[in-house]
Amino acid sequence: MSVGIDQIYAYAPQLALPLPALAAARGVAPEKLTLGLGVEAMAVTPACEDVVTLAATAAGRCLRAAGVDPRSIGLLVVATETGVDHAKPVGIFVHELVGVGPQCRVYEVKHACYGGTAALMTAADWVRANRAQARRALVVAADVARYAIGSPGEPTQGAGAVAMLVGPTPRALFLAEESGVHAANVYDFWRPLDRREALVDGKFSIECYLDALAGAFRSCRALERPVLEDGEGLLDRFARVLYHTPFPKMAAKAHRRLLELDRRSVTDAEFEASYRELVAPGLTGVARIGNTYTASLYICLATLLENEARALAGRRIGLFSYGSGCCAEFFTGTIPAGAATLGPTGVRDALTRRRLVDVPTYERLLRDGERGGEPPADFSGDFVFQGIRNDRRIYARAREVLAA
Ligand code: CAA
Repeated sequence: MSVGIDQIYAYAPQLALPLPALAAARGVAPEKLTLGLGVEAMAVTPACEDVVTLAATAAGRCLRAAGVDPRSIGLLVVATETGVDHAKPVGIFVHELVGVGPQCRVYEVKHACYGGTAALMTAADWVRANRAQARRALVVAADVARYAIGSPGEPTQGAGAVAMLVGPTPRALFLAEESGVHAANVYDFWRPLDRREALVDGKFSIECYLDALAGAFRSCRALERPVLEDGEGLLDRFARVLYHTPFPKMAAKAHRRLLELDRRSVTDAEFEASYRELVAPGLTGVARIGNTYTASLYICLATLLENEARALAGRRIGLFSYGSGCCAEFFTGTIPAGAATLGPTGVRDALTRRRLVDVPTYERLLRDGERGGEPPADFSGDFVFQGIRNDRRIYARAREVLAA
């Protein structure tokens, strides 16, 4: 049974901090951030948004783009490491805000940035397990990436969400059933229960990412070995390769590692050519949104589909998902012929509607935390976080708040 992503839609908050401004405020060369890390800007959440409003906006727009009645969704999984409650899942707020019906399994999954892939694979298995009855699942990956002000991780923040409708008639991506995985208990990036900002052993986290990439890729390639021609690498079969992208330079490091694994040796010129063709086209969105943890890989996918769906129809792509802690998966998919009819996937819209903020504004928003608030008149989201009353989080439709 063919299963995959029927529709994908991304959303990022409309405020963004340009990285050269952050570099100036921290006294580092702007090239360190724009070239050394490859980040141009990072999305910043206004007071009236949180992970729930990001997830619900992406989810609602995904269902509308697909023309699917929310009440027909039988499984709703939200992947996040920005949970708003130790017991109540982000998904149940999304369930209400986008109008999913009561006959639905709703829960949250967590394994750092791998959570989005865990949710997607679970949803695909759920669809495959119900052969007699065509059902669709909604997966949302949403996060607000936060590190301490002035820390090395600070330029690798961001915020955003991606919603994916998973079903038996995919228009965005057929998912292959076989994939390679890798897991190990490592302390590379974590966030203790009482902290808002993540803790990270930055250089070690890069090593862990690359080790997990090698493990997952080797196990995926072993499954494909019987069908590879003599001397053919697995990467030769892909039109594009997408990576979890905490910052774009990480995808470049990852791609070089994979080329070395796949071909044994690689010259700088071969790496540059391969990176330009296979990897760079997927990175234009994340370079201007920043790290979105669980959503990062899927923002790359949404970017690719928005810009190249027609040209890539029928072609196979590779995808690598990494979650600190750690668990990783290298999987593959084929872009269906129908991808040409997908339409916008939200990335361009998010980038077009954005407003740049200065460093004092960004620092104030980060220090204040999510208190809730009134949306600005040009608010780009569909839902508003109004605040916490009687220990309960209050959400509303942006349209109604703005009309009142
Ligand atoms: N011009 C151009 N490049 C420059 C430069 C300049 N003037 N100055 C420095 N650079 C380059 C450096 O050479 C380096 O590039 P290479 O790695 O290719 O050598 C790059 O800029 C970064 O410089 P540093 O390594 O000195 O930067 P740093 O010590 O300040 O921290 C970091 C970098 C470790 C990535 C830090 O930003 C961090 O901790 N980020 C969060 C952790 C993270 O994203 N880890 C990724 C793997 S884990 C994961 O993927 C899960 C997740 O989402 C968190």
